Amino acid sequence: MPRAAGQGGRSSPKKTVNGESDFVVVANRLPVDLERLPDGTTTWKRSPGGLVTALEPILRRRHGAWIGWSGGVDDDDVDAEDEPILLEELRLHPVRLSSDDVEEYYEGFSNATLWPLYHDVIVKPLYHREWWDRYVAVNRRFAKAAARAAATGAVVWVQDYQLQLVPKMLRELRPDLTIGFFLHIPFPPVELFMQLPWRSEIVEGLLGADLVGFHLAGGAQNFLILARRLLGAPTSRASVGVRSRPGHVDLDDRTVRVGAFPISIDSAELDQKGRDRSIRRRAKEIRAEVGNPRKIMLGVDRLDYTKGIDVRLKAFAELLAEGRVKGDDTVLVQLATPSRERVDSYQKLREDIERQVGHINGEYAEVGHPVVHYLHRPIPRDELIAFFVASDVMLVTPLRDGMNLVAKEYVACRSDLGGALVLSEFTGAAAELQQAYQVNPHDTEGVKAGIEAALNQSPEEGRRRMRALRRQVLVHDVDRWARSFLDALTEGRPSNS
Ligand code: ADP
Ligand code: F6P
Repeated sequence: MPRAAGQGGRSSPKKTVNGESDFVVVANRLPVDLERLPDGTTTWKRSPGGLVTALEPILRRRHGAWIGWSGGVDDDDVDAEDEPILLEELRLHPVRLSSDDVEEYYEGFSNATLWPLYHDVIVKPLYHREWWDRYVAVNRRFAKAAARAAATGAVVWVQDYQLQLVPKMLRELRPDLTIGFFLHIPFPPVELFMQLPWRSEIVEGLLGADLVGFHLAGGAQNFLILARRLLGAPTSRASVGVRSRPGHVDLDDRTVRVGAFPISIDSAELDQKGRDRSIRRRAKEIRAEVGNPRKIMLGVDRLDYTKGIDVRLKAFAELLAEGRVKGDDTVLVQLATPSRERVDSYQKLREDIERQVGHINGEYAEVGHPVVHYLHRPIPRDELIAFFVASDVMLVTPLRDGMNLVAKEYVACRSDLGGALVLSEFTGAAAELQQAYQVNPHDTEGVKAGIEAALNQSPEEGRRRMRALRRQVLVHDVDRWARSFLDALTEGRPSNS
């Protein structure tokens, strides 16, 4: 992340002439949000979410351009072409969103229709025609911005569920480009996807890409079935392999490849940070600040109903009630970044979580000694790593998650081979992190047993598991993910383009 753009930091973005880029990332958000301060000045702040965590180091290394929304509202002239902004090694092309765009494209279609539909309908997806119209219009704005920024024959990599129509729109505008698409969230089972009134349009939109990537082979497989069923396109039938053996959809004039590429993190950087003296010192202080308990459990999430924060709180409350865990020697720290705060289901979630936290502390805490420490705010990166290093058990219990980078970050920070990971089977990460204490988040007794086993593991057992987890995470890092996707995307392309 840009240092000047760090938590509370200030920077003065330089304007630059509009140039054409050979490598362009298109994502709903820029890697930084522009924040206006009360004194009228502006500051850049890291944007939330795993997409930014993964892609920001890649783009920095490749000196590419990033097209995205700055997180603000701009009602003036949404189609205005803002000049790119140079922020350290990043070239940022802001796309403007009006208040109606934010309401209907971002909060509406992206996060109250697609998000719940793609996450196993944990809450009911809402289908509104005007939200769809706005999604189409905003996707077109992103496609135009990408078409303007890309050099002849450039590689353009479109990201995530907010921009599924961009590949087709961009191909129409710029047939010379090589276009990749990667979905950062789960791709749903066929029978759920079929609910979507605009299902064919979404599949057609994605098929504008040369390569469509998912975290897991299952997502790729679902997409191939839908291309056959909805569009009647011939497709491969063999099973798709992870990072290899992509499937394909044969269109009249070209072939679209479809593959599985599990995303990861900058593992070496986190490993290094986890060894840093000042971070280890801070980890000790954190243990002292929460009362030097025997065990610290940790949850780190965006405050999202997919993350199963309620699942871990319920399990913890029952373990305390049954005396299987003691409130005087075990604490839970839950760090929750605010997310999508104007969407109803997120407001309700916040109320529920805060009620649960209040209930547990009311029953089991002593004055000055809460059993659940809950912070509703983003935590600076180094402080977050110190929390990872300080904790004995990491709780990652989503009901559904495309990957979950937090699980990988925790492992990467634990060069001391300490700690234990409790991990939901319903995360993409579970396919790779087999030596975690895997739990079914719908099975409260199973979650309790997983937490208890992790709390009481022997040091040898802990080291054995953590060593194996680290082998996986340190080898399969985000560079490898990007390389495998981009190599597959550009395979067979003339080398001078
Ligand atoms: P998602 O993309 O759904 O938010 P991931 O687990 O894949 O979920 O990625 C979340 C990213 O956001 C990780 O890099 C994680 O460290 C970061 N993050 C999550 N919660 C916080 C928090 N409370 N403070 C700071 N960063 C956070
Ligand atoms: O991949 C998950 C993701 O939805 C990203 O697309 C997104 O940028 C991030 O989480 C955070 O969500 P939001 O941009 O809605 O704050």
